[in-house]
Amino acid sequence: MMDKQETAKKTIFSGIQPSGTLTIGNYIGALRHFPELQETYNCIYCIVDEHAITVRQNPADLRRRCLELAAVYLASGIDPEKCIIYCQSHVSAHAELAWILNCFTYMGELQRMTQFKDKAAKHADNINAGLFTYPVLMAADILLYQADAVPVGADQKQHLEITRDIAQRFNSIYGDVFTVPEPLITKVGSRVMSLQDPTRKMSKSDPEECFISLLDEPDAVRRKIKRAMTDSDGEIRFDPENKPGVSNLLSIISTLTGEDMETICGEMAGKGYGDLKNRTSDAVIAALEPLQSEYKRLIADKQYLLDTLLSGAEKANSIAIRTLRKVQKKIGFAPRSLK
Ligand code: TRP
Repeated sequence: MMDKQETAKKTIFSGIQPSGTLTIGNYIGALRHFPELQETYNCIYCIVDEHAITVRQNPADLRRRCLELAAVYLASGIDPEKCIIYCQSHVSAHAELAWILNCFTYMGELQRMTQFKDKAAKHADNINAGLFTYPVLMAADILLYQADAVPVGADQKQHLEITRDIAQRFNSIYGDVFTVPEPLITKVGSRVMSLQDPTRKMSKSDPEECFISLLDEPDAVRRKIKRAMTDSDGEIRFDPENKPGVSNLLSIISTLTGEDMETICGEMAGKGYGDLKNRTSDAVIAALEPLQSEYKRLIADKQYLLDTLLSGAEKANSIAIRTLRKVQKKIGFAPRSLK
């Protein structure tokens, strides 16, 4: 049973796809804030394997990545006693509510989703209905837990908007069933850019040399940063518009060490790009070291990871089922008892 103080806390819901590796961009933008977030909010982290199968997945890889993702999250400092971390497919209410919400979502709304258009173009041989109704499952994820806030990057803003629209539409017919979630915008200045094309966001779907994985060994970190794109004027100064490569390295140093930009630029004045890159590598390696060693410890203990996910699913289920039953009752599904 939650005590009063806990119920007064707001709920944050976050879904993460178990696809590919996470990058230092994910670390800087999200993971490093997890330990402080769990003190102020009820945090629910859902590994969205049902969303993942909207594009073809290799079963063995998908199974492995769910556990790896759980290990990365736990290694980042989230405490399974304070947060809920679980797999979407372990809580059947997600699929059930998604079906119901499908009947409250219009084709036209889904057709406007830019992520659908992008993914349909990218996977032209497999434009399945799940890909089309992806945002409805996402709405179900969020609404089941009556989430107050959802941390979203720019690419997911449209999906949060449709979630709000669906919630409001449902509430206007049946009364106050769902909390309408707000976006929790991640702080500015926390955007990490590609090492090879610093005008674009660092992305795990780009070639290896463009991003640093959270699990990259120190050698790989140094090699990738050494090859990072800079410019030819040779001056170390923070100027994202004209010097995107150098500025990206400077902001990585600044966010990871907590030193302000002026101090760093002052210290680096007169030095070369080789020095800047060494300093960047040092900062990245030092930040990743504790996370990586904790990850290695956790990934070796599959049973612990699985137990954590299963007990997370149990807690998630007890919240989700309350919302689902309320919805089923409101729309007039057959009662489960005559009382
Ligand atoms: N669509 C999100 C992404 O690709 C993942 C996701 C699924 C999600 N369900 C969610 C994010 C609920 C936030 C809340 O990043």
